[in-house]
Amino acid sequence: MGSHPHMPQQETSLVTDHDSPRLPDESPLKIDTTVPHSARVWNHLLGGKDNYLVDRQAADRYREIFPQIVDIARTDRAFLGRAVRYLAGEAGIRQFLDIGTGLPTMDNTHEVAQRVAPESRVVYVDNDPLVLLHAHALLTSTPPGVTDYIEADLREPDEILSAAAKTLDFSKPVAIMLLGILHFVSDFTEVRQIVTRLLDAVPSGSYLALTHATYDIGDQATVQANVEVHQDWNDNAAVPITARTRHEIRRFFDGLELLEPGLVSMSRWRPEATPWDEPPEVAGFCGLGRKP
Ligand SMILES: C[S@@+](CC[C@H](N)C(=O)[O-])C[C@H]1O[C@@H](n2cnc3c(N)ncnc32)[C@H](O)[C@@H]1O
Repeated sequence: MGSHPHMPQQETSLVTDHDSPRLPDESPLKIDTTVPHSARVWNHLLGGKDNYLVDRQAADRYREIFPQIVDIARTDRAFLGRAVRYLAGEAGIRQFLDIGTGLPTMDNTHEVAQRVAPESRVVYVDNDPLVLLHAHALLTSTPPGVTDYIEADLREPDEILSAAAKTLDFSKPVAIMLLGILHFVSDFTEVRQIVTRLLDAVPSGSYLALTHATYDIGDQATVQANVEVHQDWNDNAAVPITARTRHEIRRFFDGLELLEPGLVSMSRWRPEATPWDEPPEVAGFCGLGRKP
């Protein structure tokens, strides 16, 4: 078992939704059930139960407008699995910093990594109070591995790095995982600075794995539906989403060696071999880069 999550300051629970997951009455967490949150909508799209009525209503609306959104969520998680298996296996990585972890689901980063290398150390970071509430499910490492959970905001990378240093040794390679999170920071300059700051803190031989929303993949109808869903999200949700171009997303890998097959649709990154054609593309880029 890893160390206990870093708890946030005490706040009053705002849980009022009768259709909510059961939360302890003394919950110190401020959970806003009046607007959709990405961790909870994602959880619903992946078939989970840790979400609220407002999240399910939003996700169901999106699924109607843009059915591919379910494939996007599943494909993102499948990329996580393939990337972490590669990192813990062939690349020999033993430390993972997974920022924007999301609610625990099947095959969380530490489970995938520790199946390959039981000594893997994984630090999870998210700023959603519901993820914190469920963090115990992420702290199930058995020795010799370690997991920890940090309640922090991506926009404060220094805070993340200093808290993560309690668990990770930043003189040794670290895989920085930014899956489905960078599009929640709207300002491109700011988000690039964050990624650069994180990469500056890790040594040669470290990796960056990311997935990101885009309108650069898909036919016209797909793009239109994707735009419509994002507009609906941005009109209603707590934190807006910003899709980026292939060129912009490629820039997060500046200074890194981008591994084959490069920046591709999440379904096309080293897919499992099958006797059939390549899997259809979904509207999200992914990539894995190595710091030289
Ligand atoms: C769409 S989910 C992706 C979850 C997981 N990484 C995956 O790919 O399956 C986005 C996650 O990022 C978190 N997140 C969004 N903005 C964040 C921020 N500024 N700081 C920390 N976490 C953030 C959300 O709370 C949510 O859990």
